[in-house]
Amino acid sequence: HQLLHADRLATLGVLAAGVAHELNEPLGNILGFAQLARKCPDLPEAVARDITKIEAASLHAREIIKKLMVFARQTPPQRVRVDLNEVVEEGLYFFRARCVKAGVQLTCALAPDLPVIMADPAQLNQVLVNLVVNALHAMPDGGALLVETTRVDGQVVLRVQDTGVGMTEATLEKIFVPFFTTKDVGQGTGLGLPVVHGIVTAHGGTIHVDGRQGEGARFEIRFPAAQQAQAERGG
Ligand SMILES: Nc1ncnc2c1ncn2[C@@H]1O[C@H](COP(=O)(O)OP(=O)(O)OP(=O)(O)O)[C@@H](O)[C@H]1O
Ligand SMILES: [Mg+2]
Repeated sequence: HQLLHADRLATLGVLAAGVAHELNEPLGNILGFAQLARKCPDLPEAVARDITKIEAASLHAREIIKKLMVFARQTPPQRVRVDLNEVVEEGLYFFRARCVKAGVQLTCALAPDLPVIMADPAQLNQVLVNLVVNALHAMPDGGALLVETTRVDGQVVLRVQDTGVGMTEATLEKIFVPFFTTKDVGQGTGLGLPVVHGIVTAHGGTIHVDGRQGEGARFEIRFPAAQQAQAERGG
């Protein structure tokens, strides 16, 4: 039941796309007029501070809208031949310094001779980033992060495993529900994993999650390997 509610997610996707689209316009106005107001000469300091808050809040809202639009994206992935190992190496590059700073020991174990998959590299990167960011959030006092690729009978596997706080049963049941988050307001929108779920299923893949409270979490994603002919054609 972890791959839950596919049809409910699809309905929510359409709704989300509409809401995101409708909100983008007035939000742009709020931001635009706040920036205009800032240009007013002799602005009292307190007013300038308030304007800064309006700007920050609308930028935050814009971030949420951006995620909503990604989540609701109706366009199918642009699938080309992709070496998952390359996506992982490039993606993790940006996290190395952050891991060191967070006291997280990062281990990257890439299977040699991994079959090519037909996938959208930008979306794969998004999957990786969302999983890694979640893992880092789950380890505020440091820990170990393992990012691994393997092949298992005709499938290409991406595993992201951490030694963080883990999840209760109740949390585990809801992690793919849009807007479900255990993080504070402003910290999480609860769209990371729904986005991951959407991308993975659009690629014909599957997600499995393991984790208990206090025992870390493990996300395992499986993609079908490209057929030989597909791989040679390059898409
Ligand atoms: N690696 C993990 N360890 C522990 N809990 C996790 C992990 N990954 C996800 N979760 C739980 O699942 C919830 C939903 O995750 P999701 O990525 O969808 O949203 P978020 O991280 O809260 O916000 P967002 O990703 O939109 O910024 C999290 O709030 C957290 O409770
Ligand atoms: Mg997240």
